[in-house]
Amino acid sequence: VTTSYIIPALRDPHQHLREDLELQHTVEAAELWCDTILGMPNTREPLTTLDRAKQYYLGQVRAYTTHLTVMPCLYLTEDTTHEQLKEAADHGINSVKIYPRGKTSHSQHGIRNYTLIYPQLDVMQSLRMTAHFHGEHPESDPWTGERDFYTQIFPAINQAFPRLRMVLEHISTKEAVETVLKGPGFRVATITPQHLLFTIGDLLQDLDSALHCRPALKETPDQRALQSAAISGDPRIMLGSDSAPWKLHKKRPTTARAVIPCGCWTAKYLPIYLATIFEQLGALDKLSTFAHHNATQWWSLRPTSRCLSLVREPTTIPHLTEGDYIPLCAGATLPWSVERHYT
Ligand code: NCD
Ligand code: ZN
Repeated sequence: VTTSYIIPALRDPHQHLREDLELQHTVEAAELWCDTILGMPNTREPLTTLDRAKQYYLGQVRAYTTHLTVMPCLYLTEDTTHEQLKEAADHGINSVKIYPRGKTSHSQHGIRNYTLIYPQLDVMQSLRMTAHFHGEHPESDPWTGERDFYTQIFPAINQAFPRLRMVLEHISTKEAVETVLKGPGFRVATITPQHLLFTIGDLLQDLDSALHCRPALKETPDQRALQSAAISGDPRIMLGSDSAPWKLHKKRPTTARAVIPCGCWTAKYLPIYLATIFEQLGALDKLSTFAHHNATQWWSLRPTSRCLSLVREPTTIPHLTEGDYIPLCAGATLPWSVERHYT
């Protein structure tokens, strides 16, 4: 007997679309299963100004999309001005990304000292903009970075800006889960498929650079906390795939001492990863809450007529996808397939 399961098209408020020719692959993959995404602003020349953001979202990205809504996001620096934030908000850019400087891909313009951005957070709070935090401490190592952010930086921000709308991105620890679940309904967190499916032990087992992402994968108790949050149906916990394409030669360099970039490419098989883990957790009925309804509600998005059907027939994830990107679970056979029904 074939089991199949209909869910609405995914809504994913965290994808890296990159730029130029890469857009062809990223947008095509995003459109396969999502009707709405938020496109991250850490392009090579980051989207730190309204002009640059307009050029990217309305020019480059739009040229490649046919039926995908891409929510825009501004890249905050320590020098972003009040006027720049106001101007962005006036032009419909209501999301602002806050990167810890130097801790992830293209984050060299990010924040070193969070007290310096209190004036900007204040403006964002009064304009009802959303602060998207990459929650890692800019002075910590990859293992302690997230815990240090939530214990040393976040509490003061939380207290100083009690009305600021926040998305705590790609949470990876039980401390971060507790933080969001203690907070108000206008503060949400996103979770990636890799943090639900894998732990640091899986990465170490084969020293698999395809699993190298920021925040780093953590231990089983953290993974369990993320999994329970994801299947809880809580409106504050939602998908944010953090799909980040990296080509084979970057992820598996043959040159000695090459720096391996962080990020997992998940857009192309996203519903399959989610169905696999939600089934393992006995919670397929919570998948659409996590991957569609919670984002719909929080961003007040229009309902969709697009559906996906998940079919319980195996899919073998290829070693590489078109464009030479390494997908998450490359080479593995996962128990689900997916088809789309778009009108
Ligand atoms: C992302 C990327 O490659 O752009 N990498 C990652 O490990 N998650 C950046 C980010 O979201 O941190
Ligand atoms: Zn990201």
